[in-house]
Amino acid sequence: MTGGVLTGDDGVDARACGGLGSGALHERNNSRPAAVQSFMSASAEPVIRCESLGQSYVSGGRELDVLQDINFTLQPGGFLAIVGPSGSGKSTLLGLLAGLDRPKRGRVVIDGDDLANLDEDARARLRGEKIGFVFQSFQLIPTLTARENVQVPLELRGQDGLERAELLLTRVGLLERGHHYPAQLSGGEQQRVALARAFSTRPRLLFADEPTGNLDAATGHTVIDLMVELNRETGTTLVLVTHDPELASRARRILRLSGGRVVSDSAPPER
Ligand SMILES: Nc1ncnc2c1ncn2[C@@H]1O[C@H](COP(=O)(O)OP(=O)(O)O)[C@@H](O)[C@H]1O
Ligand SMILES: [Mg+2]
Repeated sequence: MTGGVLTGDDGVDARACGGLGSGALHERNNSRPAAVQSFMSASAEPVIRCESLGQSYVSGGRELDVLQDINFTLQPGGFLAIVGPSGSGKSTLLGLLAGLDRPKRGRVVIDGDDLANLDEDARARLRGEKIGFVFQSFQLIPTLTARENVQVPLELRGQDGLERAELLLTRVGLLERGHHYPAQLSGGEQQRVALARAFSTRPRLLFADEPTGNLDAATGHTVIDLMVELNRETGTTLVLVTHDPELASRARRILRLSGGRVVSDSAPPER
């Protein structure tokens, strides 16, 4: 964990670059030569390893398979879109990857940690340390201002977070709205605050479930552009569930689900 340049180790970037200077968002890849970056991505431990993953629920006395035999790995810094019709298991998969639910079969390994070996507290800790979330419905705390919402994850870590929150709000173009409450912001603005919040702790992984689902097309594009830029700048690995083919086409890889199974796994066409 102590500064091995080629390890791709999260601790190196997140802690060594804990300052809030102008480079604060650029902690992972940008300063490294292309050859080093490609060596890192070829050799690094996957940030997500998903093996023979399956989930089922009992409904009306019958067991209903909602995910079956899901296998994939994702390298650090990747951008994966999970697509598929409603009910195909996308949100279920995201919940399993984030350790919010326990699978019936198979396993999820995050940065070498098999989630099955972690108890509830340890999984909550891993989420707090490594994972950011963005939801379709924004889920800002209504009684806190935009800036306070961005500060919450940092305060939970015992940090003040004011400077970092202002940096992130600037990054999403909302610094001057920092004192406004969610109800005083449009949907697109709320989602940009939610993005700033999700990135505040420099998460290793960002999970987003239909993040543009409640936004009009133009606003959705702004939010997606920001996600793509932040993915590039920070090296945060993005896993995005979406119905939106245009949004999916921005990802470097698309996993398509149907009836709880992966029916294709491909890089998007060249743009
Ligand atoms: N807690 C649950 N109990 C029973 N069935 C569930 C539960 N959660 C999800 N399902 C079912 O699993 C299937 C997949 O759901 P979901 O992952 O939400 O799909 P998607 O996000 O692709 O629309 C659906 O048929 C849904 O009704
Ligand atoms: Mg869903």
